[in-house]
Amino acid sequence: MNTHKVTIANRAGATYDVDARRPLLDSLRDQGVDLPYGCKYGGCITCAAKLIEGSVDQRRQVALNNRQISNGYVILCVARATTDITLNIGVDSHDTLYRNPFLDPLKPHELKADIATAKDG
Ligand code: FES
Repeated sequence: MNTHKVTIANRAGATYDVDARRPLLDSLRDQGVDLPYGCKYGGCITCAAKLIEGSVDQRRQVALNNRQISNGYVILCVARATTDITLNIGVDSHDTLYRNPFLDPLKPHELKADIATAKDG
């Protein structure tokens, strides 16, 4: 089994070994980590966490826009670790997850990849 180590920075640096082929949400919950979730297919954002270090494959997620991705958010129900990673989980990781769209609208390059259009010129 190809495993990676997951460190949860805001849970006193607790570490877990996860199977690289399984979604992080499943691997961590199986080991007793209490994580919220909803749809479990990458669409509702409930399971978002912040990636502090390392990388994941979360190509199947559809909940995050590009700004949330560049701020480090990962969707645990579909993300698989591709290296050892460090995460912040839970509400304390959500500082930049939600923004008021009227005060701080997304720029074209921050839209979801599937609805963004090429910039003119
Ligand atoms: S549980 Fe819905 S996006 Fe992960």
